[in-house]
Amino acid sequence: MLYIGVDLGTSAVKLLLMDGEGRIQKIVSREYPICFPQPGWSEQNPEDWFRETMAGLKELLSDCDKSQVAGISFGGQMHGLVILDAKDQVIRPALLWNDGRTYEECDYLNNVIGKEKLSEYTANISFTGFTAPKILWVKNKEPENFARIRKIMLPKDYIAYRLSGVHCTDVSDASGMLIFDVKNRCWSRQMLDICGIREEQLARIYESYEAVGTVLPEIAAKLEIPETTKVVAGAGDNAAAAVGTGTVGDGMCNISLGTSGTIFISSEKFGVDRHNALHAFAHADGHYHLMGCMLSAASCNKWWMDGIIGTKDYAGEQEAIGKLGENHVYFLPYLMGERSPHNNPNARGTFIGMTMDTTRADMTQAVLEGVAFALRDSFEVAKSLGIRIERTKICGGGAKSPLWKKIIANVMNIKVDVIESEEGPALGGAMLAAVACGEYESVEAAAEKLVKVVDTVEPTPEIAAKYEERYQQFKEIYPACKPLFEIIK
Ligand code: XUL
Repeated sequence: MLYIGVDLGTSAVKLLLMDGEGRIQKIVSREYPICFPQPGWSEQNPEDWFRETMAGLKELLSDCDKSQVAGISFGGQMHGLVILDAKDQVIRPALLWNDGRTYEECDYLNNVIGKEKLSEYTANISFTGFTAPKILWVKNKEPENFARIRKIMLPKDYIAYRLSGVHCTDVSDASGMLIFDVKNRCWSRQMLDICGIREEQLARIYESYEAVGTVLPEIAAKLEIPETTKVVAGAGDNAAAAVGTGTVGDGMCNISLGTSGTIFISSEKFGVDRHNALHAFAHADGHYHLMGCMLSAASCNKWWMDGIIGTKDYAGEQEAIGKLGENHVYFLPYLMGERSPHNNPNARGTFIGMTMDTTRADMTQAVLEGVAFALRDSFEVAKSLGIRIERTKICGGGAKSPLWKKIIANVMNIKVDVIESEEGPALGGAMLAAVACGEYESVEAAAEKLVKVVDTVEPTPEIAAKYEERYQQFKEIYPACKPLFEIIK
């Protein structure tokens, strides 16, 4: 049988076709626009997602035996707010995970409702990108749109709805809404009241590996696949990526270097840290996870390469990079503000430390290192909770760079296991579809069978020691710049 994984990303949708043995048959990718209507705002049109997903599916299936397609599932950019009216039409463009406009609503949630209550109801506190403050933003700033809302959906769930006709979501993605009681895996009554919405305006919750239904007859006809093809709930992109890298069960770690950068730690037991510095979410394997999320990771490198120095030759630029751990230039990667651990939508990208002999390669290196240092900030929070991590998996576009993997291994001083396929969320989506169709008895069984480590990047003691010193300096830069970020916003 064949299984499809759809990774509904921020810059593109990536679609992957996998057979029952876990062999990847084909991958296609289709881009769509992102719009930044004001500084710190970030929107996309759900119709663009659906159009490109359908076109991508056609291309993906163009040369396979379509009668063998058994299931389709998802990894999707998290937290985005998609609102539908009584006719299931999209009311306004979706507000994305990296949208920072809701600082007033966040302030209300964190300081008037209070972090303790939020944490008690949802296991998390409010960040500007989360869904609940966005719902409040629409309520406060666009009351006419708020009054028309019949369904509130997350990005990948909108695609699942268009394919199956079912308003569904899954526990991992729902966790990032701040309306979901993570511990008990159900909607939080208190948060519904706080947001001024009713439970029937939300989607039905499924575990990530559960089928929500089958494809609609018109979708089956368009794609020439069986009408019995299951649509499976899927997961937020980070949980799906964790499935795709075998980061399931207890105490495993995955780093994702996509548009965002995340450090993801799987856990069999529910747990929240006292300061809610890491997100405590439900995992796609039926358990839980902790996660730190930085808003700009591989996107910093893309911005620097494509936008500033104007090249597509990423590997060529990286070849000019000299010694690791000796760069005097630092880069704060806060191009969209920052979530973990600073929770500051006003933080901004910053270069510091240049002199007359600073080269273009030093600046390129500083961008890669800045992302690694910022991920280490979240890693330090995990360590302070007593979590011991000695190795991590890695995935996402940035993971294709051998140099960036080496920098990560040395900045964190941990082993980085490279797996056969870096297609985290799309592969995880296909694996969740395979589990729902009975190909594997659990997500863990699928990961055990399908995920293969092909290489390990080990830290080098001398380089790791140099980076340790550099990190201690990096740590001082954000607190020093913070008051400035309040002035220059
Ligand atoms: C996670 C997060 C991002 C997006 C990116 O909390 O906001 O990783 O899911 O797609």
